[in-house]
Amino acid sequence: MTSTTPACPNAAEPQSPEASGWIRRFAGLIPAGGAVLDLACGGGRHSRLLLQLGHPVTAVDRDLTRLGGLDSHDDFSAQCHDLEDGSAFPFSAGSFAGVVVTNYLYRPIIADIVRAVAPGGILLYETFAQGNERFGRPSNPDFLLAPGELLDAAAGQLRVLAYEDLVVERPKPAAVQRICARRELLA
Ligand SMILES: C[S@@+](CC[C@H](N)C(=O)[O-])C[C@H]1O[C@@H](n2cnc3c(N)ncnc32)[C@H](O)[C@@H]1O
Repeated sequence: MTSTTPACPNAAEPQSPEASGWIRRFAGLIPAGGAVLDLACGGGRHSRLLLQLGHPVTAVDRDLTRLGGLDSHDDFSAQCHDLEDGSAFPFSAGSFAGVVVTNYLYRPIIADIVRAVAPGGILLYETFAQGNERFGRPSNPDFLLAPGELLDAAAGQLRVLAYEDLVVERPKPAAVQRICARRELLA
């Protein structure tokens, strides 16, 4: 189902136009030239980074109005999709060498997100965690990761290369969890 709703219910506004430091730090681990999914891409700050690094990017969001000139990039494709409408997750298992999710949480699709990582591929996920209530939005528990929740999502499927559960000061104080994890190559 498509939507043009401009609202951003997970948002802790304003968002930084810069790529997240976590994503910049680990994007180089995504296999060279491999296809990347930027899920709930927003304005496409990570799509831009990944295109610069030589990856074809598929970006998904229910609101594609903030992508600027990205649409004209040969290696970029955008899909307008409501990820929470109850329909099947739009990508099959092992579709992407990299999956990037930032500042977005919809628990029913976390397992699908993990499954979308191909053997040898990398999951980079960073979003708000419990404790963020004291800094402002998001404060709805539906949008806040529970302690260890990203580790639990990766458990038994991905090898965790880096994980943090902390309070960051920039771009504004926030409680976040973030993970970099790889699906090991099949033997
Ligand atoms: C806080 S923004 C994060 C954008 C981007 N990942 C970033 O960090 O710059 C959350 C994004 O999730 C998208 N979103 C919220 N609910 C959605 C849904 N049901 N289906 C698809 N995208 C959704 C919003 O449109 C928005 O772009």
